[in-house]
Amino acid sequence: MAMNRVVVLGGYGAVGREVVSGLHGYVPEIVVAGRDLVKARAVDGAIPMRIDLRSDDIERLDADAVVMCAESENVRVAEMCLRRGVHYVDVSASYEVLAGIEKLGATKATGVLSVGLAPGVTNLLAREFGGAGVEIGVLIGSGERHGPGAVEWTLDSLGDLGESWRMRFPPPYGIRTVRRFPFSDQYTLPGDVRTGLCLDSRALSALLPRLKRFRDVAPLRAVFRHVHLGGDGFAVAVASGGRVRSFAGRRQSRATGLAAALVVRRLDGMPPGVRHIEDVVGPDFLPELAAHGFELGEYDSG
Ligand SMILES: NC(=O)c1ccc[n+]([C@@H]2O[C@H](COP(=O)([O-])OP(=O)(O)OC[C@H]3O[C@@H](n4cnc5c(N)ncnc54)[C@H](OP(=O)(O)O)[C@@H]3O)[C@@H](O)[C@H]2O)c1
Repeated sequence: MAMNRVVVLGGYGAVGREVVSGLHGYVPEIVVAGRDLVKARAVDGAIPMRIDLRSDDIERLDADAVVMCAESENVRVAEMCLRRGVHYVDVSASYEVLAGIEKLGATKATGVLSVGLAPGVTNLLAREFGGAGVEIGVLIGSGERHGPGAVEWTLDSLGDLGESWRMRFPPPYGIRTVRRFPFSDQYTLPGDVRTGLCLDSRALSALLPRLKRFRDVAPLRAVFRHVHLGGDGFAVAVASGGRVRSFAGRRQSRATGLAAALVVRRLDGMPPGVRHIEDVVGPDFLPELAAHGFELGEYDSG
């Protein structure tokens, strides 16, 4: 089935608008949907649509594929799409969301989960180690204008911050301390896997365990939404058996959105059913994503 009409839910968010730009020239009709029609109208080259995912609006959706870039009602939206033969791609990093969608059983269309940077690129780098136990490190630029959705998810997840370990990231970052963080990749990948987070700013990174106690304080959440200290670079590193594979660049929202757009462009011909990215794309995927200004690397972990 050709992709003639794709709806991007949360399409004017930080990730969503990158999905839209990655689909331009490949999909004739791109619909940008969210609760604010004015913001949807501001996205160039797309059809604006007002949708509140917490209502029945989604029942009226007309699309060949839907890309979910809003963390709201994901399982219900996935079920509605896949039951009606509409392909579904989700960038969520929440294991509970992905586990709920995995349980939907037989579907008429393709559902692709673990799409983006972490999960997403991290799953694909881990696959290159052939299922051996891996350690994953995610370094995020604290100066990037992350979307409110991603900031809320990160602050909510601070409660689950766990043990720390050292990982070597590609230059200029070097060896950093990461703290276990509930990215979904470590729960859906096979074998012994753990995923840790750090920020590009060493000072802010060291503060993370202390911020955990104050994560529900409204002014602190506002500071994280509006203050951008540090750069907009990111890097993910996946280590196993003394070797590290990495993917790095600027603006993780862009990397995530472009990864989702590349998945949409491969949906045609995928079998029905719900799968994670590492089960549906080939070894050409990461080099194609990296060609958009990102860098793949491989080096010793010592
Ligand atoms: N896999 C990865 O590597 C990765 C990386 C980054 C982010 N993410 C995930 O991607 C998601 C989006 O992140 P983001 O940074 O793009 O956040 P964002 O900028 O806040 O975008 C969220 C979008 O969803 C829309 N939305 C929220 N609630 C909605 C509702 N009830 N109905 C319709 N639309 C709704 C928002 O618009 P309105 O509020 O105006 O409706 C907005 O357009 C988050 O879940 C984040 O965790 C994953």
